[in-house]
Amino acid sequence: MIIVIGKSGQLAKALVAVNTTHQLLCLGRDDIELTSPDNIQATLLSYHPSAIINASAYTAVDKAESEPEQAYALNELSVANLAEYCVANGVHLVHVSTDYVFDGQKGSPYTVDDIYGPHSVYGKSKMAGEQAILGLDKLSACIIRTSWVYSEYGQNFVKTMLRLMQEKPQLGVIDDQIGSPTSAKALARACLYAASNSVQGVHHFTDAGVASWYDFAVAIQQAAVEKGLLTKSIPISPIPTSAYPTPAKRPAYSVLDKSTLQSQFNGLQPVHWQQELATVIDELK
Ligand SMILES: NC(=O)c1ccc[n+]([C@@H]2O[C@H](COP(=O)([O-])OP(=O)(O)OC[C@H]3O[C@@H](n4cnc5c(N)ncnc54)[C@H](OP(=O)(O)O)[C@@H]3O)[C@@H](O)[C@H]2O)c1
Repeated sequence: MIIVIGKSGQLAKALVAVNTTHQLLCLGRDDIELTSPDNIQATLLSYHPSAIINASAYTAVDKAESEPEQAYALNELSVANLAEYCVANGVHLVHVSTDYVFDGQKGSPYTVDDIYGPHSVYGKSKMAGEQAILGLDKLSACIIRTSWVYSEYGQNFVKTMLRLMQEKPQLGVIDDQIGSPTSAKALARACLYAASNSVQGVHHFTDAGVASWYDFAVAIQQAAVEKGLLTKSIPISPIPTSAYPTPAKRPAYSVLDKSTLQSQFNGLQPVHWQQELATVIDELK
C-alpha cells in the first residue's frame, strides 16, 4: 500500500485519478497530525505502507511571508517527522519540492546539484524540508522538485486566468518570470513511479518546454476559446514583475533540468506543456 499525505490538494487528487495499479490511501489533516511524531507512528503503523508520497505542503506563497511559523511547521517539521517515521519503519518516502528553492538568476536550467538560493519564506521552508530529508542517514527517499502546478482541481493559475478572462475586459500578465508549467497528473505519474520503484535522490519533473506567465495565459485563453470553455477572447498584455508587486519575491527564471529522468525514471519523457494544457482544458469543460 502507498499512503498519500494530503487529500484535498491538487497532487493528491491527481494521484487518485491517474492510479490504476496501486492500493492508495489518502490521509488529510483530519486523519493525521503531521507535527506529532507519536500521532504519525500511531496512525501509520496499522497500514504497513511500502511507500509514502507527501503531497501536503503549506503552499500559500504570499501568505507565508506573514505566517512563517505555519509554513515551517508543515514544510519543515512535518517533513522531518515523516522522514523519521520512514527511517524507523523501513518505508520509502517520495517528497515533492519546488523551483522556488532557487534564486532565479542562473539563466539556464537548474540542475539537481545547483545551490539553494530561495528568496521567499515558502522557498526557504521548502528548502528546510529537503534538508531534513537529505540529512537523514539510512532513509530511502526521493525528492521531486516541480514548478507551476495546475489541474482541474483546487486553485491554480489556469483556473484563476479562466475566471478573470470571464470577468475582466482585459488582463495584464507578468512576462519576465520564466518557468515550466506542470500538469498535476503528469507529476502524479512521476511520483507513483518513484514510490513503486524506490527511486532515490533529488530529481526534477516538469512538463516539457518553457514559458512566461504571459505566454501561459495567452495559451490558456486560446485553448479555452477553441474548446468552447470561453465564449470570447479579451486583450492580454505583457507586464513586468514590478507592475504586479506581491509579498513574496518569485524567481525570475526557474526552468528545471530534467536529465536525471532518463536514468532514474526509466526514460520518462515529459509531454510539452501546451499539450498537457489542452488535456486539462478538456477536463474542465
Ligand atoms: N502548486 C504549485 O504551483 C507548486 C509548484 C511547485 C511545487 N509544488 C509542490 O507540490 C506539492 C503539491 O502541491 P499542490 O499544488 O497539490 O498543493 P495544494 O493543492 O495547495 O495542496 C496542499 C495539500 O496540503 C494539505 N495540507 C495543508 N496543511 C495541512 C496540514 N496541516 N496537515 C495535513 N495536510 C495539510 C492540504 O490540505 P487541505 O486541502 O485540507 O488544506 C492539501 O491537501 C507541494 O509539495 C508543493 O510545495 C507546488
